[in-house]
Amino acid sequence: MLDGKRILLIVSGGIAAYKTPELVRRLRERGATVRCVLTRAGSQFVTPLSLSAVSEDKVYDDLFSLTVESEMGHIQLSRDADLLLVAPATANILAKMAAGIADDLATTALLATDKRVMVAPAMNVRMWEHAATQANLATLEGRGIERIGPVEGDMACGEWGFGRMSDVPDIVAAVDSFFGRGRRLAGRRALVTSGPTHEAIDPVRYLANRSSGKQGHAIAAALARLGAETTLVTGPTHEPEPPSVTVVRVESARDMRRACDKALPADIAVCAAAVADWRVAEPAGAKIKKGKGSASPTLTLVENPDILATLAASGNRRPRLVVGFAAETDDVVANAIAKRVAKGCDWIVANDVSPAVGTFGGDANTVHLIAMANGEVEVEDWPRLSKQAVAERLADRIADTLGAVS
Ligand code: C5P
Repeated sequence: MLDGKRILLIVSGGIAAYKTPELVRRLRERGATVRCVLTRAGSQFVTPLSLSAVSEDKVYDDLFSLTVESEMGHIQLSRDADLLLVAPATANILAKMAAGIADDLATTALLATDKRVMVAPAMNVRMWEHAATQANLATLEGRGIERIGPVEGDMACGEWGFGRMSDVPDIVAAVDSFFGRGRRLAGRRALVTSGPTHEAIDPVRYLANRSSGKQGHAIAAALARLGAETTLVTGPTHEPEPPSVTVVRVESARDMRRACDKALPADIAVCAAAVADWRVAEPAGAKIKKGKGSASPTLTLVENPDILATLAASGNRRPRLVVGFAAETDDVVANAIAKRVAKGCDWIVANDVSPAVGTFGGDANTVHLIAMANGEVEVEDWPRLSKQAVAERLADRIADTLGAVS
Protein backbone atom coordinates (compact mmCIF):
# COMPACT_ATOMS: atom_id res chain seq x y z
CA MET A 1 0.00 0.00 0.00
CA LEU A 2 1.02 3.60 -0.53
CA ASP A 3 -0.63 5.07 2.57
CA GLY A 4 0.49 8.64 3.18
CA LYS A 5 3.00 8.65 0.30
CA ARG A 6 3.12 11.91 -1.64
CA ILE A 7 3.71 11.60 -5.36
CA LEU A 8 4.37 14.50 -7.69
CA LEU A 9 3.18 13.26 -11.09
CA ILE A 10 4.72 15.15 -14.00
CA VAL A 11 2.77 14.68 -17.22
CA SER A 12 4.65 15.59 -20.39
CA GLY A 13 3.29 15.76 -23.92
CA GLY A 14 2.71 12.33 -25.37
CA ILE A 15 -0.42 10.56 -26.49
CA ALA A 16 -0.01 8.25 -23.46
CA ALA A 17 -0.94 11.23 -21.27
CA TYR A 18 -4.54 10.13 -21.78
CA LYS A 19 -3.78 7.26 -19.36
CA THR A 20 -2.74 9.55 -16.52
CA PRO A 21 -6.19 10.20 -14.96
CA GLU A 22 -6.44 6.40 -14.58
CA LEU A 23 -2.91 6.33 -13.11
CA VAL A 24 -3.82 9.02 -10.59
CA ARG A 25 -6.96 7.11 -9.63
CA ARG A 26 -5.07 3.84 -9.08
CA LEU A 27 -2.32 5.50 -7.04
CA ARG A 28 -4.88 7.27 -4.88
CA GLU A 29 -6.82 4.03 -4.37
CA ARG A 30 -3.65 2.66 -2.81
CA GLY A 31 -3.52 5.53 -0.32
CA ALA A 32 -1.12 7.93 -2.06
CA THR A 33 -1.64 11.66 -2.40
CA VAL A 34 -1.02 12.70 -5.99
CA ARG A 35 -0.29 16.23 -7.11
CA CYS A 36 -0.02 16.83 -10.85
CA VAL A 37 2.24 19.08 -12.90
CA LEU A 38 1.29 19.35 -16.54
CA THR A 39 3.68 20.59 -19.23
CA ARG A 40 2.31 22.84 -21.95
CA ALA A 41 2.52 19.95 -24.46
CA GLY A 42 0.97 17.60 -21.89
CA SER A 43 -2.08 19.83 -21.68
CA GLN A 44 -2.71 19.14 -25.38
CA PHE A 45 -3.38 15.49 -24.49
CA VAL A 46 -5.09 15.65 -21.09
CA THR A 47 -6.94 18.57 -19.59
CA PRO A 48 -6.00 20.17 -16.28
CA LEU A 49 -9.65 19.79 -15.35
CA SER A 50 -9.63 15.99 -15.63
CA LEU A 51 -6.42 15.67 -13.63
CA SER A 52 -7.69 18.11 -11.04
CA ALA A 53 -10.93 16.14 -10.71
CA VAL A 54 -9.20 12.79 -10.16
CA SER A 55 -6.44 14.15 -7.91
CA GLU A 56 -8.86 16.41 -6.00
CA ASP A 57 -6.14 19.05 -6.04
CA LYS A 58 -5.06 21.99 -8.11
CA VAL A 59 -3.05 21.11 -11.22
CA TYR A 60 0.17 23.06 -11.67
CA ASP A 61 1.13 24.00 -15.15
CA ASP A 62 3.04 27.25 -15.58
CA LEU A 63 6.32 28.24 -13.93
CA PHE A 64 5.74 31.91 -14.36
CA SER A 65 2.18 31.96 -13.11
CA LEU A 66 2.15 34.40 -10.22
CA THR A 67 -0.70 32.51 -8.62
CA VAL A 68 1.30 29.30 -8.55
CA GLU A 69 4.43 31.01 -7.22
CA SER A 70 2.50 32.76 -4.46
CA GLU A 71 0.63 29.60 -3.47
CA MET A 72 3.31 26.99 -3.99
CA GLY A 73 6.80 27.63 -5.40
CA HIS A 74 8.47 25.13 -7.71
CA ILE A 75 11.00 24.25 -5.04
CA GLN A 76 8.26 23.57 -2.53
CA LEU A 77 6.39 21.37 -5.01
CA SER A 78 9.30 18.94 -5.25
CA ARG A 79 10.15 19.22 -1.54
CA ASP A 80 6.63 18.24 -0.57
CA ALA A 81 6.83 14.94 -2.45
CA ASP A 82 8.31 11.56 -1.53
CA LEU A 83 8.71 10.63 -5.20
CA LEU A 84 8.62 12.44 -8.53
CA LEU A 85 7.08 10.31 -11.26
CA VAL A 86 7.32 11.46 -14.87
CA ALA A 87 4.63 9.68 -16.90
CA PRO A 88 4.58 9.82 -19.80
CA ALA A 89 8.21 10.88 -20.16
CA THR A 90 8.79 12.07 -23.71
CA ALA A 91 12.17 12.01 -25.46
CA ASN A 92 12.14 15.79 -25.05
CA ILE A 93 11.69 15.87 -21.26
CA LEU A 94 14.29 13.09 -20.84
CA ALA A 95 16.74 15.18 -22.89
CA LYS A 96 16.05 18.26 -20.78
CA MET A 97 16.49 16.27 -17.57
CA ALA A 98 19.80 14.85 -18.81
CA ALA A 99 21.04 18.32 -19.75
CA GLY A 100 19.73 20.03 -16.60
CA ILE A 101 17.47 22.38 -18.54
CA ALA A 102 14.78 24.06 -16.47
CA ASP A 103 12.53 26.11 -18.73
CA ASP A 104 9.11 25.34 -17.33
CA LEU A 105 7.56 24.29 -14.04
CA ALA A 106 7.98 20.53 -14.66
CA THR A 107 11.68 20.65 -15.55
CA THR A 108 12.41 23.22 -12.83
CA ALA A 109 10.82 20.97 -10.20
CA LEU A 110 12.89 18.06 -11.56
CA LEU A 111 16.11 20.07 -11.36
CA ALA A 112 15.33 21.45 -7.91
CA THR A 113 14.44 18.16 -6.28
CA ASP A 114 16.48 16.13 -3.82
CA LYS A 115 13.92 13.29 -3.97
CA ARG A 116 13.94 10.07 -5.96
CA VAL A 117 12.69 10.25 -9.54
CA MET A 118 11.06 7.57 -11.71
CA VAL A 119 10.33 7.95 -15.41
CA ALA A 120 7.90 6.02 -17.62
CA PRO A 121 9.12 6.78 -21.16
CA ALA A 122 6.64 6.94 -24.03
CA MET A 123 7.59 7.80 -27.59
CA ASN A 124 7.75 6.59 -31.16
CA VAL A 125 10.08 3.61 -31.68
CA ARG A 126 12.51 5.64 -33.83
CA MET A 127 12.83 8.28 -31.13
CA TRP A 128 13.30 5.56 -28.54
CA GLU A 129 16.07 3.91 -30.56
CA HIS A 130 17.83 7.19 -31.37
CA ALA A 131 21.36 7.34 -29.96
CA ALA A 132 20.56 10.67 -28.28
CA THR A 133 17.63 9.20 -26.32
CA GLN A 134 19.64 6.14 -25.32
CA ALA A 135 22.56 8.33 -24.21
CA ASN A 136 20.19 10.55 -22.21
CA LEU A 137 18.68 7.50 -20.49
CA ALA A 138 22.14 6.18 -19.64
CA THR A 139 22.98 9.55 -18.09
CA LEU A 140 19.76 9.59 -16.07
CA GLU A 141 20.15 5.99 -14.91
CA GLY A 142 23.72 6.80 -13.96
CA ARG A 143 22.27 9.43 -11.63
CA GLY A 144 20.04 6.87 -9.99
CA ILE A 145 16.81 7.74 -11.81
CA GLU A 146 14.65 4.66 -12.23
CA ARG A 147 12.97 3.75 -15.48
CA ILE A 148 9.65 1.95 -15.85
CA GLY A 149 9.30 0.46 -19.35
CA PRO A 150 8.65 1.31 -22.11
CA VAL A 151 7.06 -1.81 -23.57
CA GLU A 152 6.75 -3.20 -27.05
CA GLY A 153 3.49 -2.83 -28.88
CA ASP A 154 1.31 -0.90 -31.29
CA MET A 155 1.98 2.80 -31.33
CA ALA A 156 -0.43 5.62 -31.90
CA CYS A 157 1.57 6.43 -35.06
CA GLY A 158 0.75 3.01 -36.55
CA GLU A 159 4.21 1.50 -36.01
CA TRP A 160 5.10 -1.47 -33.88
CA GLY A 161 8.05 -1.58 -31.48
CA PHE A 162 9.48 -0.34 -28.21
CA GLY A 163 8.30 2.99 -26.96
CA ARG A 164 4.80 2.38 -25.61
CA MET A 165 4.35 3.61 -22.06
CA SER A 166 4.00 0.76 -19.57
CA ASP A 167 0.44 -0.05 -18.63
CA VAL A 168 -1.01 1.70 -15.58
CA PRO A 169 -0.96 -1.44 -13.33
CA ASP A 170 2.74 -1.93 -14.15
CA ILE A 171 3.56 1.66 -13.27
CA VAL A 172 1.61 1.32 -10.02
CA ALA A 173 3.47 -1.93 -9.25
CA ALA A 174 6.84 -0.22 -9.85
CA VAL A 175 5.86 2.62 -7.51
CA ASP A 176 4.67 0.08 -4.95
CA SER A 177 7.94 -1.78 -5.09
CA PHE A 178 9.88 1.50 -4.86
CA PHE A 179 8.19 2.29 -1.54
CA GLY A 180 8.21 -1.34 -0.44
CA ARG A 181 11.97 -1.18 -0.61
CA GLY A 182 11.93 1.36 2.20
CA ARG A 183 13.56 0.17 5.42
CA ARG A 184 14.36 -3.27 4.03
CA LEU A 185 17.34 -3.37 6.39
CA ALA A 186 15.49 -2.26 9.53
CA GLY A 187 17.02 -3.86 12.62
CA ARG A 188 20.32 -4.61 10.82
CA ARG A 189 23.62 -3.08 11.91
CA ALA A 190 26.07 -1.99 9.24
CA LEU A 191 29.69 -0.90 9.40
CA VAL A 192 31.22 1.00 6.48
CA THR A 193 34.81 2.18 6.09
CA SER A 194 35.56 5.10 3.81
CA GLY A 195 38.22 7.54 2.67
CA PRO A 196 42.00 7.35 2.81
CA THR A 197 44.13 6.95 5.91
CA HIS A 198 46.92 9.31 6.89
CA GLU A 199 50.10 7.70 8.17
CA ALA A 200 52.29 10.10 10.12
CA ILE A 201 55.89 10.74 9.09
CA ASP A 202 56.29 13.40 11.76
CA PRO A 203 53.77 15.77 13.47
CA VAL A 204 53.22 17.76 10.24
CA ARG A 205 53.76 15.30 7.39
CA TYR A 206 51.98 12.12 6.40
CA LEU A 207 51.64 9.46 3.72
CA ALA A 208 48.20 9.38 2.09
CA ASN A 209 46.40 8.46 -1.15
CA ARG A 210 43.88 9.99 -3.55
CA SER A 211 40.69 8.41 -2.18
CA SER A 212 37.90 11.00 -1.75
CA GLY A 213 35.54 8.95 0.41
CA LYS A 214 32.66 9.62 -2.02
CA GLN A 215 31.87 5.95 -2.65
CA GLY A 216 32.07 4.82 0.99
CA HIS A 217 30.00 7.76 2.24
CA ALA A 218 27.36 7.10 -0.43
CA ILE A 219 27.17 3.44 0.67
CA ALA A 220 26.70 4.40 4.32
CA ALA A 221 23.92 6.81 3.28
CA ALA A 222 22.22 4.17 1.12
CA LEU A 223 22.31 1.52 3.89
CA ALA A 224 20.94 4.04 6.40
CA ARG A 225 18.14 4.97 3.98
CA LEU A 226 17.13 1.29 3.95
CA GLY A 227 16.89 1.42 7.73
CA ALA A 228 20.23 -0.15 8.77
CA GLU A 229 21.76 1.26 11.94
CA THR A 230 24.94 2.40 10.24
CA THR A 231 28.39 3.35 11.57
CA LEU A 232 30.75 5.02 9.12
CA VAL A 233 34.40 4.84 10.09
CA THR A 234 36.14 7.35 7.88
CA GLY A 235 39.63 8.60 7.28
CA PRO A 236 40.16 12.32 6.55
CA THR A 237 37.79 13.47 3.76
CA HIS A 238 35.91 16.59 2.71
CA GLU A 239 32.67 14.67 2.17
CA PRO A 240 29.63 15.86 4.16
CA GLU A 241 28.46 13.49 6.91
CA PRO A 242 25.57 11.36 5.63
CA PRO A 243 22.28 11.83 7.52
CA SER A 244 21.20 9.24 10.13
CA VAL A 245 24.67 7.67 10.24
CA THR A 246 27.03 7.48 13.24
CA VAL A 247 30.31 8.91 11.95
CA VAL A 248 33.62 8.01 13.57
CA ARG A 249 36.55 10.04 12.23
CA VAL A 250 39.99 8.48 12.29
CA GLU A 251 43.43 9.28 10.87
CA SER A 252 45.51 6.15 10.54
CA ALA A 253 44.90 2.52 9.59
CA ARG A 254 45.48 1.43 13.15
CA ASP A 255 42.88 3.95 14.44
CA MET A 256 40.50 2.67 11.76
CA ARG A 257 40.99 -0.93 12.84
CA ARG A 258 40.26 -0.08 16.49
CA ALA A 259 37.16 1.95 15.54
CA CYS A 260 35.87 -0.94 13.40
CA ASP A 261 36.41 -3.38 16.23
CA LYS A 262 34.37 -1.12 18.53
CA ALA A 263 31.56 -0.94 15.96
CA LEU A 264 31.01 -4.73 16.15
CA PRO A 265 28.77 -6.65 16.32
CA ALA A 266 27.40 -5.84 12.90
CA ASP A 267 25.43 -7.81 10.31
CA ILE A 268 27.08 -6.09 7.36
CA ALA A 269 30.59 -4.73 6.84
CA VAL A 270 31.47 -2.83 3.70
CA CYS A 271 35.15 -1.89 3.51
CA ALA A 272 35.38 0.87 0.94
CA ALA A 273 38.29 2.72 2.57
CA ALA A 274 41.60 3.01 0.73
CA VAL A 275 43.62 1.98 3.75
CA ALA A 276 47.34 2.69 3.48
CA ASP A 277 49.14 -0.63 3.08
CA TRP A 278 52.17 0.65 4.98
CA ARG A 279 52.91 3.09 7.76
CA VAL A 280 56.13 4.66 8.86
CA ALA A 281 57.69 2.33 11.41
CA GLU A 282 58.73 5.07 13.79
CA PRO A 283 57.22 8.48 13.08
CA ALA A 284 59.45 11.30 14.34
CA GLY A 285 58.23 13.00 17.51
CA ALA A 286 59.23 16.44 16.18
CA LYS A 287 59.26 17.92 12.68
CA ILE A 288 62.14 16.50 10.67
CA LYS A 289 64.37 19.45 9.76
CA LYS A 290 66.21 19.85 6.50
CA GLY A 291 69.56 21.50 6.76
CA LYS A 292 72.59 22.21 4.71
CA GLY A 293 74.63 19.09 4.31
CA SER A 294 72.24 16.86 6.30
CA ALA A 295 71.23 13.63 4.61
CA SER A 296 67.67 13.18 3.26
CA PRO A 297 65.63 11.10 5.70
CA THR A 298 64.99 7.43 4.95
CA LEU A 299 61.50 6.15 5.78
CA THR A 300 61.24 2.59 6.99
CA LEU A 301 57.75 1.22 6.33
CA VAL A 302 55.91 -1.59 8.06
CA GLU A 303 52.69 -3.23 6.92
CA ASN A 304 49.39 -1.98 8.30
CA PRO A 305 46.71 -4.29 9.68
CA ASP A 306 44.31 -5.49 6.98
CA ILE A 307 40.95 -4.38 8.34
CA LEU A 308 38.87 -6.25 5.78
CA ALA A 309 40.73 -9.53 6.33
CA THR A 310 40.53 -9.04 10.11
CA LEU A 311 36.76 -8.48 9.96
CA ALA A 312 36.32 -11.49 7.69
CA ALA A 313 38.23 -13.68 10.13
CA SER A 314 36.67 -12.44 13.36
CA GLY A 315 35.04 -15.76 14.29
CA ASN A 316 31.71 -15.45 16.01
CA ARG A 317 31.96 -11.65 15.77
CA ARG A 318 32.21 -11.86 11.99
CA PRO A 319 29.50 -9.84 10.23
CA ARG A 320 27.22 -12.11 8.20
CA LEU A 321 28.07 -10.30 5.00
CA VAL A 322 31.56 -8.86 4.53
CA VAL A 323 32.09 -6.82 1.37
CA GLY A 324 35.47 -5.61 0.19
CA PHE A 325 36.58 -3.34 -2.62
CA ALA A 326 39.33 -4.01 -5.10
CA ALA A 327 40.80 -0.98 -6.80
CA GLU A 328 42.69 -2.35 -9.77
CA THR A 329 44.42 -0.85 -12.77
CA ASP A 330 44.73 -4.05 -14.83
CA ASP A 331 43.08 -7.49 -15.03
CA VAL A 332 40.38 -5.97 -12.85
CA VAL A 333 38.05 -8.97 -12.56
CA ALA A 334 40.69 -11.72 -12.33
CA ASN A 335 42.60 -9.85 -9.62
CA ALA A 336 39.42 -9.16 -7.71
CA ILE A 337 38.36 -12.83 -7.79
CA ALA A 338 41.71 -13.75 -6.29
CA LYS A 339 41.41 -10.96 -3.73
CA ARG A 340 38.02 -12.21 -2.54
CA VAL A 341 39.61 -15.52 -1.61
CA ALA A 342 42.75 -13.97 -0.12
CA LYS A 343 40.75 -11.62 2.11
CA GLY A 344 38.12 -14.19 3.10
CA CYS A 345 35.26 -11.80 2.35
CA ASP A 346 31.91 -12.72 0.79
CA TRP A 347 31.69 -10.16 -2.00
CA ILE A 348 34.15 -7.92 -3.75
CA VAL A 349 33.25 -4.77 -5.61
CA ALA A 350 35.96 -4.45 -8.23
CA ASN A 351 36.61 -1.08 -9.76
CA ASP A 352 38.95 0.15 -12.41
CA VAL A 353 41.04 2.99 -11.01
CA SER A 354 43.44 3.44 -13.90
CA PRO A 355 43.98 7.21 -14.33
CA ALA A 356 42.16 7.19 -17.71
CA VAL A 357 38.91 6.15 -15.98
CA GLY A 358 38.98 8.93 -13.36
CA THR A 359 37.38 6.98 -10.50
CA PHE A 360 39.38 8.62 -7.71
CA GLY A 361 37.73 11.89 -6.79
CA GLY A 362 35.28 11.59 -9.72
CA ASP A 363 31.52 11.12 -9.44
CA ALA A 364 31.15 7.95 -11.48
CA ASN A 365 32.31 4.39 -11.08
CA THR A 366 32.46 1.33 -13.33
CA VAL A 367 32.29 -1.73 -11.13
CA HIS A 368 31.89 -5.50 -11.22
CA LEU A 369 30.26 -7.27 -8.30
CA ILE A 370 31.95 -10.55 -7.48
CA ALA A 371 29.82 -12.79 -5.30
CA MET A 372 29.30 -16.48 -4.67
CA ALA A 373 26.13 -18.24 -5.80
CA ASN A 374 25.68 -21.97 -5.10
CA GLY A 375 29.40 -22.40 -4.54
CA GLU A 376 30.27 -20.73 -7.86
CA VAL A 377 31.88 -17.36 -8.38
CA GLU A 378 29.43 -15.01 -10.05
CA VAL A 379 30.58 -11.82 -11.77
CA GLU A 380 28.08 -9.06 -12.47
CA ASP A 381 29.24 -6.26 -14.76
CA TRP A 382 27.44 -3.07 -13.79
CA PRO A 383 27.09 -0.20 -16.25
CA ARG A 384 28.96 3.03 -15.61
CA LEU A 385 26.96 4.59 -12.77
CA SER A 386 27.28 7.55 -10.45
CA LYS A 387 28.85 6.60 -7.13
CA GLN A 388 25.46 7.26 -5.57
CA ALA A 389 23.78 4.84 -7.97
CA VAL A 390 26.48 2.19 -7.26
CA ALA A 391 25.75 2.68 -3.56
CA GLU A 392 21.97 2.31 -4.03
CA ARG A 393 22.42 -0.82 -6.11
CA LEU A 394 24.84 -2.37 -3.64
CA ALA A 395 22.53 -1.55 -0.71
CA ASP A 396 19.63 -3.10 -2.63
CA ARG A 397 21.66 -6.25 -3.28
CA ILE A 398 22.61 -6.43 0.40
CA ALA A 399 18.94 -6.05 1.35
CA ASP A 400 17.97 -8.80 -1.14
CA THR A 401 20.46 -11.09 0.58
CA LEU A 402 19.92 -10.24 4.26
CA GLY A 403 16.55 -8.53 4.54
CA ALA A 404 15.21 -6.85 7.66
CA VAL A 405 15.13 -8.45 11.11
CA SER A 406 11.59 -9.76 11.41
O1 C5P B 1 44.69 -5.32 -0.62
P1 C5P B 1 43.91 -4.18 -1.15
O2 C5P B 1 44.28 -2.86 -0.54
O3 C5P B 1 43.83 -4.10 -2.63
O4 C5P B 1 42.42 -4.52 -0.68
C1 C5P B 1 41.37 -3.64 -0.84
C2 C5P B 1 40.27 -3.98 0.13
O5 C5P B 1 40.80 -4.27 1.41
C3 C5P B 1 39.35 -2.80 0.35
O6 C5P B 1 38.07 -3.32 0.70
C4 C5P B 1 39.98 -2.10 1.53
O7 C5P B 1 39.04 -1.33 2.24
C5 C5P B 1 40.48 -3.26 2.35
N1 C5P B 1 41.69 -3.01 3.11
C6 C5P B 1 41.62 -2.95 4.48
N2 C5P B 1 42.76 -2.78 5.23
C7 C5P B 1 43.95 -2.65 4.62
C8 C5P B 1 44.04 -2.73 3.21
C9 C5P B 1 42.90 -2.90 2.50
O8 C5P B 1 40.52 -3.04 5.03
N3 C5P B 1 45.03 -2.46 5.34
